[in-house]
This record gives sequence, structure tokens and C-alpha cells, in this order.
Amino acid sequence: MPLIHFKQLMKFSLINLGLLGLSLISSPSFAQTSASNINNRSLAATCANCHGTDAVVVPNSGMPAIGQLNKDEMLAKLMAYKSGAQQGTIMPQLAKGYTDEQLNTIASVLGKK
Ligand code: HEC
Repeated sequence: MPLIHFKQLMKFSLINLGLLGLSLISSPSFAQTSASNINNRSLAATCANCHGTDAVVVPNSGMPAIGQLNKDEMLAKLMAYKSGAQQGTIMPQLAKGYTDEQLNTIASVLGKK
């Protein structure tokens, strides 16, 4: 009977939801991990206005594409802007506004995987 099947399905789903809820509550690392992920992504999002969301270049934006750089390449460029070794119009000023650790985080999020 279809109705019984539906009821069984609902029961099964509710149990699963309960288990999911329990596992979320009982694992404290979950909250920490996702909070720090959000934090890292927010930091990287400060680059999106010019370089596109998740470093996907906006066509005809006139901005250099950075999504092809891996983490180490991107970090090296950012550190060069920060130290003054690399000239630029805006990036030297921007890079100086972040700690080395923040630049490392940003390069981890946006660098090509
Ligand atoms: C206001 C616009 C703007 C923002 C915001 C911005 N950039 Fe840039 N970015 C540029 C411009 C323009 C250049 C070219 C160099 C210059 O003139 O400063 C550049 C160059 C770069 C380069 C070098 C590309 C290459 O291949 O040489 C990297 C890497 C880079 N940006 C990463 C970032 C990261 C990471 C962020 C976020 C922290 C960021 N940019 C935020 C405008 C921006």
C-alpha cells in the first residue's frame, strides 16, 4: 500500500534527521571548522570585487586573472607586493593591509587546486 510506504519513508527520514542533528551537536569540531571556513572565505572574498568570485576572472573587467596561479605562486606575488619588490597601482597598498598569515589564508582559498 502506497500510504504505508510513505509513512515508513517519513519515519526513516525523521530518524535520519535526528541522527544528523545528534552528530552535529555532539561534534564540537564541526562548528569550529565551518566557522573558520567561513572566515577564510570572507577574507578571500575581499578580492572578488576586482578579481571575480573565487578568482574566476570577470571578462572585460580589465583586471588580471589570478585563478591560474597555485597557492605558492599567488602567495609569492602577494608577498612581493607587500614588501615593495613588485610594483603596482593598487596591489602594493592592498597587500600591506593584510598580515602574512592572512595572505597565506587567502592564497590557500583562491590558489588553483
Ligand atoms: C581594487 C581592485 C583590486 C582588489 C580589491 C584586489 N586586486 Fe589584485 N590586482 C589588481 C590590479 C589592478 C592588479 C595589477 C597590479 C597593480 O596594478 O596593482 C592586481 C594584481 C594581482 C595579482 C598579480 C597577478 C599577476 O599575475 O601578476 C595577484 C596575485 C592579485 N592581484 C591578488 C589579489 C588578491 C589575493 C586580492 C585580495 C586580497 C586582490 N588581488 C585584491 C586589482 C585588485
